[in-house]
Amino acid sequence: MSELEEIREKVDIIELISRYVALKPSGKGYKGRCPFHPDDTPSFYVSPEKKLWHCFGCGAGGDAIGFLMRVERLSFREALERLATELGVELRASGERQKFLKVNAAAATFFHEMLLAPEGRAAREYLISRGMGPETWECYGLGYAPASGDALLSSLSRWGLSDLERLGLIVKGERGYRDRFVNRVIFPIKDELGRPVAFAGRSLSGAEPKYLNSPNTPLFIKGTLLYGLDRAKEAIKSSGRAVLVEGYTDVISLQTAGIQEAVCSMGTALTESQARRLARYARQVVIAYDADAAGEASTLRGIGILLDAGLEVRVALLPEGEDPDSLVRGHGVAALETAISEAVNFQDFLLELLPHRFDLSTLKGKGDALELVRALWEHVKNPLLRREWAQKIALLLELPEEEIWKVLGGKISWKGMVEGDESFGPEEVVLKFMFSGKLGVDKISQLAPEDFSPEYRKIVCLWLERGGEGKAEPHSLSSELDLEDQARLSRILLWDISFSDEERALEDAWQKFFVIPRLERRIRVLKEEMERAEKKGEKEHLEELVREYVNLCRCRAKVLKGEHGG
Ligand code: UTP
Ligand code: MN
Repeated sequence: MSELEEIREKVDIIELISRYVALKPSGKGYKGRCPFHPDDTPSFYVSPEKKLWHCFGCGAGGDAIGFLMRVERLSFREALERLATELGVELRASGERQKFLKVNAAAATFFHEMLLAPEGRAAREYLISRGMGPETWECYGLGYAPASGDALLSSLSRWGLSDLERLGLIVKGERGYRDRFVNRVIFPIKDELGRPVAFAGRSLSGAEPKYLNSPNTPLFIKGTLLYGLDRAKEAIKSSGRAVLVEGYTDVISLQTAGIQEAVCSMGTALTESQARRLARYARQVVIAYDADAAGEASTLRGIGILLDAGLEVRVALLPEGEDPDSLVRGHGVAALETAISEAVNFQDFLLELLPHRFDLSTLKGKGDALELVRALWEHVKNPLLRREWAQKIALLLELPEEEIWKVLGGKISWKGMVEGDESFGPEEVVLKFMFSGKLGVDKISQLAPEDFSPEYRKIVCLWLERGGEGKAEPHSLSSELDLEDQARLSRILLWDISFSDEERALEDAWQKFFVIPRLERRIRVLKEEMERAEKKGEKEHLEELVREYVNLCRCRAKVLKGEHGG
């Protein structure tokens, strides 16, 4: 049994959740007020049998670890460790982890010594030219990876080559092992406790890539850490605000200039996991990305992700072509402080952006603008905010507000009311039957992952991978899914529905979810083929196609009228 399974089995989910939520028995499970949104009609359900929870108000859901992650704002690893300690489950990895941490600490020391050694001269000069002096070297543990290509290898070999390789410090080439980082300035990437878990090396010679980062290792998974958070977290906690920038040099430059709350996501686009990590300390995030096209695109993506983590989002508008580091160094820290304190909320950011990006006097421009708004709209859950925003957009685009709502759609209607059960459609009904073992093998065997909408596809694929019907308990998949998919799964599994006529309900959903879409897909293909056959003058083939076409259209009409039967 894996550690994860052992924890899942031992954990008492009711006891755990009761520490945060007053639960009352209800049916087979328990009911309470959701801790994740203002909830005055208890819409939060916990099933002790399935060991899952779900809120039918805000849509959050998952297993015990997912609950702890959300409520205490922990990373997966931290939540796992906490439960493991409480339940007395020993995590095998921890001994090895300690050793890896030691190796990385030794590597950081090595790089740092090399920066101070004679061969580190060019690196020292480079750093000084970028405004980073000896104090900064100490503070951030900056270092230098020598040009020889085996300096780290020979100096740290006593730790064992296979561990050095697993930590991404050396790589195997044609002629044996070599250092990964060669002639680069080294920025150690630290976890929240300030321990180096990975490294980034900036090229000194112009070699590509400009920044080379450690690969994923047992200590470091890309997209989960934020650079600078170890130093920023106290400041973020006390001001409630974080400043999100693009690069290592931006973080160092800002923190050194006194804007302590700066962190960056290190090259990759901001991830959900990084956003959740920020939300442990911050209420608000100010995005201060480079003022260029790439920065603008990352800002748009970042906004949605930060909103989903429950953060308030503002955007600092920097002068064209600047990044925070260049702004501080060229115009002084006050210039950046002003940009940060005058940061606009994300709705206004978009309202300012749209007229620059699109020609709003044309219908095409309006349509494209609305598409861009729609990408963020889904992340805004608050009905009042949506309303206010829709009004502003209607004004800007000179369109009636109804039109805006129609395009943006969504599950929250006009009056800001949540449309309860309409969000459960035929697909959800089929999934419900499938996961409770009532769909029947004949139907399951016809299904392909492509029949499901993208939001459920990953869950279904995982279930099938684990053996599907009779082999994989759907609720046990939870621990292998990310928080969003956990919520989708718990929503289906904890959906308390009974049908007056189960067979009919299933048949109805099956037709709508499976039979009709397949028919329609086939009909579309046939139409194309018919056109082709006609053009080419293939008379016999065409007749055949027409026969099938007519047949399928009849089938479809029958199904739509509700005369099922195969
Ligand atoms: P930038 O190219 O804006 O970096 O990339 P920078 O910090 O301003 O670089 P300098 O000032 O030229 O040294 C922003 C961030 O994207 C990541 C790094 O985290 C960098 O700080 N990045 C960039 C990479 O990971 N790899 C690359 O090749 C380039
Ligand atoms: Mn930059």
